[in-house]
Amino acid sequence: MSKTINVLFLAAEADPFIKVGGLGDVAGVLPRELRALSNDEIKLDVRLVLPYHPAVKAENLRPLDLFSIPRGDSEVGVEAFETTLNGLPVYFIGGEPIRANGSVYSLDAAKDSEKYAFFSMAAMELPKHINWQPDVIHANDWHTSLSLYVNLTKRWEAGAKHVAGVITLHNLPFMGADVGAILESYGVKLAQTDLPEWARVLPLPLGLWASDAIVAVSPGYAGEVLTEEFGCGLYDFLNLRKESLSGILNGIDMVSFDPSVDKALSVNYSLDTFNRRAENKELLQEKLGLVRDPNVPLLAVISRMDVQKGVDLAFTALKNMKRINFQAVILGTGDPKLEEAARELQTLFPDKIKAELKFDANLARQIYAGADMILMPSRYEPCGLAQMIAMRYGCVPVVRSVGGLKDTVKPNETGFVFEKMHHMSLVSAIKAGMKTLTDREKWETLQRNGMAKDFSWEASAREYLKIYQSLVK
Ligand code: GLC
Repeated sequence: MSKTINVLFLAAEADPFIKVGGLGDVAGVLPRELRALSNDEIKLDVRLVLPYHPAVKAENLRPLDLFSIPRGDSEVGVEAFETTLNGLPVYFIGGEPIRANGSVYSLDAAKDSEKYAFFSMAAMELPKHINWQPDVIHANDWHTSLSLYVNLTKRWEAGAKHVAGVITLHNLPFMGADVGAILESYGVKLAQTDLPEWARVLPLPLGLWASDAIVAVSPGYAGEVLTEEFGCGLYDFLNLRKESLSGILNGIDMVSFDPSVDKALSVNYSLDTFNRRAENKELLQEKLGLVRDPNVPLLAVISRMDVQKGVDLAFTALKNMKRINFQAVILGTGDPKLEEAARELQTLFPDKIKAELKFDANLARQIYAGADMILMPSRYEPCGLAQMIAMRYGCVPVVRSVGGLKDTVKPNETGFVFEKMHHMSLVSAIKAGMKTLTDREKWETLQRNGMAKDFSWEASAREYLKIYQSLVK
C-alpha cells in the first residue's frame, strides 16, 4: 500500500498568481515538482496556501465556507477560496488584515505584521475546514513562519497530532517586526526560547525555533548563516540547530527558460544550433539603440535595484571602465536611489550604457540570449536564479563568491568569480572575462558548459522529499 505525506506549503507569493521576487518563482514551481514525485510507494499531497492579496490574479476561485479565528474578546473573519493549478490544490486566505494592506510587502512593518500573523493563524485553521490533515507544515521566510510557531504550541495541547515543521530560508536578514502583542491578542503565548532576547518576538526566529528542519536555498548559504558575517545575530542559535540545518539548491523552470523554444526570442537556438545565438546579440543591440557590433563585449545587469544585489558596486565598476570598449544594459526596478544612479550612468555613457528601469520579462529573456556576460556582485546571495537562467542561455556569469552564486558558477569553467566586495575586484573579473572573450573557442566552451548544466527542480525536490520522510517516520 502506498504511503501518503500531506504537506501544507505556505508562502507570501507564488507565480503565476502573484510574484514580486525569487520567492514567488520558487513557491510557484516547487509544490508542483514535489507532487510530481509521487509514485506507487509514496504519494505526496502538497497543497499551497497564499494570502489573497488584492493584486492576486486567479481564475475559477471557489469560496469555502466562512470561518473565523478568535482574537481578544471578538473574532476575525476568514474568507478562504480554493482553486487548482495543473493539479496542485491552491488555497487563498482573505480577510480584513490582508485587504487592509494593498502590497505584498509594504514599507509599513506594523501592517505587514498584522497581515502575515493573521495569515499564519488562519492557515493553521484551514485544514479543519477542508477535511484534510497535514503531516508537514512547510513555511517560507518570515511571512509564514509564525505558522510553525502556532503549530508547535498546538502540538503541546493534549491529544494534538504531531505535525512536523519545515522552514525554507530564502533571506535571513528579513525577520519581520515585533509580533509579541499580536500573538497575545490571538491567545498565543510567547514561549521560553533559546533565541537571543531581541529575537524572541520576531516571526522568523520564532519559526526557526519551532521548526524540525531548516533548509537554506543553497548549501553555500546554509554554511554562511552559521558565521558571524552572514548569520544576522542568529549564528549562535543556528549553530545549536546545525543538525537540523541543510542547504538545497533552488532549481529553475527549465521548460519556460529554454532558448530553443522561448517565444520572447526572434531567433531560437540550442547547443546544436549554437551559432544562431550571435543573431540575438545584434538584435538586442539594435533594440537598445547600441551600435551593432558582434565584437564589443555586451554586459548585463538584470536585477532588483537593491543593495543586497550589489548593483551599486556594478555601477561603480562600469564607471571605472572609461577607457575600455564595452556596452552594458541595466534592467530592473527598485530602490529609487539606485535607479537614479543607473540613469546617471546612462547620461555619462550615452552610447555605451542603457538603463531600462522597468520590469520586463521578455526583455530580460532577450538580454539573457544576447548579452555576453551578466554581472552579479551580490553582498550576500542565498541562491540567486539569474545566474542559472543566464547559463542556460549561454550568457556567462561574473559573480561574487557568496552563497548560491559560489555553488553554481565554477571559475573559468562556467563563469568568472571574485571574492572581495570592492568594485576593482569586479573590474578585474570583468577584464578576465573580456580577455577570454577575445579567444572565441575558449569563450564558446564556457558558454556551452553553462548551457549543458542541469538546473532542473527535480533533484532539489527529491532532497525535500527526503527531509519530509525523515520527519514523518
Ligand atoms: C531570495 C534570495 C535569492 C533567492 C530567492 C529564492 O530572493 O535573495 O538569493 O534566489 O530568495 O530562494
